[in-house]
Amino acid sequence: MSASVSNHPLHVACIMDGNGRWARRRGLPRTDGHTAGEEALAEVVRSAAARQVGWLTAFGFSTENWVRPRTEVRHILSLHRKLFSRTEEMNRNNARTRWIGRPFSDKGARTPVLVQKAITKAIADTSGNTGLSVTIAFDYGSRAELVRASRLAMSQGVVTPSSIQANLYDPEMPPVDLLVRTSGEARISNFMLWQIKGAHIYFTERPWPDFNRQEFDQAIASLTGSPA
Ligand code: IPE
Ligand code: IPE
Ligand code: MG
Repeated sequence: MSASVSNHPLHVACIMDGNGRWARRRGLPRTDGHTAGEEALAEVVRSAAARQVGWLTAFGFSTENWVRPRTEVRHILSLHRKLFSRTEEMNRNNARTRWIGRPFSDKGARTPVLVQKAITKAIADTSGNTGLSVTIAFDYGSRAELVRASRLAMSQGVVTPSSIQANLYDPEMPPVDLLVRTSGEARISNFMLWQIKGAHIYFTERPWPDFNRQEFDQAIASLTGSPA
């Protein structure tokens, strides 16, 4: 079955929360929760490709997350390098990698060079794929994105919804249809405030590492009202 709403390909966005709690419940370090979370994302990518979802956007690391303990941040950085290196799998899924976040050369941007290289390479190596677009939000915050888009629009002399849209990090990204947040928090946490304007929101108690194909289907079914 192909998942779509009103004739455009479905855009599902995920706030992947609860990695730390998942690990704590098992008596494991938080870093193990992030490792398990990366695997869960890989499964969601496969499910999304199989369901012919058009766009999948995942909140990997926020502009607010840099204050976390250094060992945890370092682990998350290395997981992102791994995530952006799953080229073979992306090609198998006919999926393209994209990224949103503070542009590398912008003041205040914090993506380390090694992650920048992984992002640039992942985008280039998957650019020929024509199916699912997988966007990772890294060093991403919606307020920073909107301040930048507003400034650019102003410098171009026109401030309208479409001129702001044209100056977002990824102007081609369609509006979000379905926003998923795991682990029981009913918060947006500065994620795509512009793009989620009309999105249906699916909150689940399940922590991100336990979010699987079945629950992904359930989330999509909650949007379309049709059985998964
Ligand atoms: C989400 O899980 C991953 C990131 C924010 C990078 P958390 O690390 O926030 O897990 P909890 O919320 O502490 O359980
Ligand atoms: C949101 O989760 C950010 C990511 C999933 C990357 P957080 O765990 O950082 O959000 P808050 O702090 O609970 O709002
Ligand atoms: Mg959290």
